[in-house]
Amino acid sequence: MQRKPLIAGNWKMHTTIDEAESLAISIMESGLPGDRDVMLAPPFTAMKAVSQAVAGSGILLGAQNVCWEEKGAFTGEISPIMLKDAGCTMAIIGHSERRHIFGESDALVNKRVAGALKFGLVPVLCIGEKLEEREADKTFQVLEDQLRKGLEGISQEGADNIVIAYEPVWAIGTGKTATVDQAQEVHLFVRSLLADIYEKNIATGIRILYGGSVNPKNVDDLMGQEDIDGALVGGAALDSTSFSRIINFKVT
Ligand code: 13P
Repeated sequence: MQRKPLIAGNWKMHTTIDEAESLAISIMESGLPGDRDVMLAPPFTAMKAVSQAVAGSGILLGAQNVCWEEKGAFTGEISPIMLKDAGCTMAIIGHSERRHIFGESDALVNKRVAGALKFGLVPVLCIGEKLEEREADKTFQVLEDQLRKGLEGISQEGADNIVIAYEPVWAIGTGKTATVDQAQEVHLFVRSLLADIYEKNIATGIRILYGGSVNPKNVDDLMGQEDIDGALVGGAALDSTSFSRIINFKVT
């Protein structure tokens, strides 16, 4: 099965509304190849402005987190309905910064995934091991745990609408990228787990993104790997020239 590549920019806690708008416009104007999807995840405050700025371009918008409830007493959370109202169709869930800085558990991540699907947002479920876990040979165990718990109770139909992002914590914002072999090995492992949880044809269709210091220099090699279907980009997504080059990756 041919999986359409997805290049996603996670802007994290960067950009004012004006800065977000200009960045989105520069990315849009640098040209978007039709054979791949592009997602931008601006801060919540800039979602609507970015949505209006890129309207009609095919650029997808993602939230950096999402609550499982439509509304109510959930101070500091963001509703899937509010996100859709602002033009958003996807949501990053379980990012390592949410897990490790804000203490989000697998159970919470799972609620967010279920909530996103319930309200029609595509979850981008992030998993990744810490350096000490890799060094202790626990990478596969940690990833299996995060994946199985994150997807608990998610049906086959739900899984059909999900994206997985593998982001080794030690490679995020550090300039250290997993080697293409390390990344491919994990992606293949994740796909085999998905085939075990669901059916093989569902696993074959799910896009698995790599994230962690992706840049214009390493993207071509990463995207050349069989099971790497896209990139979740942090730092390099804040510069339109770099991000455009990443969008326009070339596999030889
Ligand atoms: P960097 O690309 O800055 O390493 O960040 C990766 C990331 O966390 C994307 O979600």
